[in-house]
Amino acid sequence: MAVLLNIPNKNAHLELIQPEHIDQLYELLESNRDYLQRNIPGIDAIRTREDLQKRWTVSKENSLHFGLWLNKNQLIGRCRLTRNPETGCADFGYWLDESFQGQGLMTAAVEALTKFAFEQWNANRVEIHCGDSNLRSRGIPERLGFCNEGISSKYPPIELNGRLVQSIVYSKIRSM
Ligand SMILES: CC(C)(COP(=O)(O)OP(=O)(O)OC[C@H]1O[C@@H](n2cnc3c(N)ncnc32)[C@H](O)[C@@H]1OP(=O)(O)O)[C@@H](O)C(=O)NCCC(=O)NCCS
Repeated sequence: MAVLLNIPNKNAHLELIQPEHIDQLYELLESNRDYLQRNIPGIDAIRTREDLQKRWTVSKENSLHFGLWLNKNQLIGRCRLTRNPETGCADFGYWLDESFQGQGLMTAAVEALTKFAFEQWNANRVEIHCGDSNLRSRGIPERLGFCNEGISSKYPPIELNGRLVQSIVYSKIRSM
């Protein structure tokens, strides 16, 4: 499966993670581990390249794992896009190298993936779930005009770094 999405005006692109990208992705994870642990549950369970390969790299028909590359070959983040064909709903996960925050790169990547979900998957609705205190993550759907639906009752609070985090749901529907 080959999917490549160019990100306008950023000299960046999204491409499905392939086996040959594992080392690069693992190094990126290791250099960002402490920062990612503050906001993403389950990072601690990824301790080896094999753990990483099982969880974050194998794209399937309904779940795509993308790398975010800058200047053609510098891996700076990852995004997951998953769909439920029964509900017509797709949702995202994402993270970025800490040192590349603040440039609008992930907002542009999520915008491109939203377009992909609507146009290629024919999704009716895309959702982004953000921890209530994760203001940087929440900034992305807010910047892109997603609707803030408030605290999700579907996803119970999870414990993260000694506090209970509630999930805020943002959504956008396909324009007809
Ligand atoms: C969530 C995360 C990807 C957000 O990173 P980010 O750098 O804030 O997001 P973007 O790349 O879209 O950049 C947006 C920032 O760039 C600024 N920016 C600069 N130029 C911009 C442009 N052309 N367009 C949009 N934003 C721009 C924005 O103002 C914003 O900065 P601000 O928050 O200080 O106002 C990152 O913090 C991360 O990976 N965190 C750890 C993992 C995580 O929490 N993942 C989400 C789990 S739900």
